[in-house]
Amino acid sequence: MDIIIYGTQYGTAKKYAKELSCRTEIPCASYEEINDINIYSTIVYIGSLYAGGVQGMKKTMANYEVGKDKKLIVVTVGLADPTDNENTDHIKGGVKKQLPVGVYEQATVLHFRGAIDYTKLNFKHKTMMGLLVRKAKNLPEEKKNAEVRAMIETYNQVVDFVDYESLSSIIDELK
Ligand SMILES: Cc1cc2nc3c(=O)[nH]c(=O)nc-3n(C[C@H](O)[C@H](O)[C@H](O)COP(=O)(O)O)c2cc1C
Repeated sequence: MDIIIYGTQYGTAKKYAKELSCRTEIPCASYEEINDINIYSTIVYIGSLYAGGVQGMKKTMANYEVGKDKKLIVVTVGLADPTDNENTDHIKGGVKKQLPVGVYEQATVLHFRGAIDYTKLNFKHKTMMGLLVRKAKNLPEEKKNAEVRAMIETYNQVVDFVDYESLSSIIDELK
């Protein structure tokens, strides 16, 4: 059995998951609906990034066992530029830490760009971003990496970098 799992707070990762489900006919579900992760042979986990963590992944994948005929594709959705290697190395490091030992090495990890609408953020997230951006703005120019730049550039705005064309990279991996 194959599955697309999504982890989202505001719906961007779900949009990618639903569209992928339409294109592949693989069913999709929120991580909150998953009971036994080991019944699936192919898993595409599409999760949004929150302070470097992939929404819901650590808990959902905690008991995952690698297997000869199993396939795991982890797709992160974030605001920072996924063509920036420093950024993706940092994300990959976070993904590795959130997976059981030995699982990261068997997984394919891809990075998509997400969206943010500050008018829809909850109080906690709005406060967090306010503090982070204030700190980020004070950093010397050479310390402003892709993540910091994305945060400053998109602060208090409505931005949408969702690009369904990037789904073809998952579809290629599924072949
Ligand atoms: C509190 C907070 C922390 C975030 N942390 C990161 C991050 O570490 N890296 C990143 O690229 N984007 C980060 N983002 C941006 C989200 O990943 C992005 O808005 C994503 O599309 C949200 O997905 P969702 O709509 O599925 O919840 C953060 C956003 C918020 C509000």
